[in-house]
Amino acid sequence: MKKKTSPARSSSRRKAAARRGILISFEGSEGSGKSTQIAYLAGQLQQIGREVLSTREPGGTEIGEQVRNLIVHNSKGDEMCAETELLLFAASRAQLVREVIAPNLMKGVVVLCDRYIDSSTVYQGVARNLSLDPIQQINRFAVGDVLPDLTIVLDVPTSVSLARIRQRASDLPDRMERENIQFYKKVRDGYLVLARSLPRRFFVVDGTLPEEKVRKLIWDEVRKRLGV
Ligand code: TYD
Repeated sequence: MKKKTSPARSSSRRKAAARRGILISFEGSEGSGKSTQIAYLAGQLQQIGREVLSTREPGGTEIGEQVRNLIVHNSKGDEMCAETELLLFAASRAQLVREVIAPNLMKGVVVLCDRYIDSSTVYQGVARNLSLDPIQQINRFAVGDVLPDLTIVLDVPTSVSLARIRQRASDLPDRMERENIQFYKKVRDGYLVLARSLPRRFFVVDGTLPEEKVRKLIWDEVRKRLGV
């Protein structure tokens, strides 16, 4: 007799079959070197024949870029309350997931995302002191079941992060970059605590190591964890 599959099981199998790609998010404070490392990892993955898509938050879609502008560069941005900020980041994320991330994962692409759900938990939750429960619910609402397979945190001391922000600022620092040192301490600690609580998803790299070394640590971890 044919074995019956329960609806729950067959739906989770369908999901697993539909999602053939891999989602890797990069997190860390400003100046931690995420974009350099994302570009390098994308190149490595392409060399072994994987299709790769790099994207960023907030932004990554036309709607998302407009939202990004509103949050990050709006000259009146200082008046924005933390709740509005949280919801705008979530709005940008919801659009990115549906328009870019999910369709690419279905095609088997490796998606590298510069910031994702954990940025909201850390920046709006830990650093801006919004309650974590609603943030988790909003994150979940925004991304559904499109959670990262791996999250790489580039950890740098606050002083290094601030020095790098000052160095690279060709124009005036943006709204988030104008935050004070206490804010960035909270961001750093927030990531470390989160990573400790979810060790299977997170990988923390010392971002003060030489760039080559950071590249190698990330590449080794990606290959080990994701079997690529
Ligand atoms: P960006 O210029 O992309 O900074 P970085 O290169 O460091 O990623 O600006 C994004 C800013 O938005 C950054 O300060 C982090 C912040 N942010 C949040 O506060 N919450 C979020 O959910 C996201 C995605 C970003």
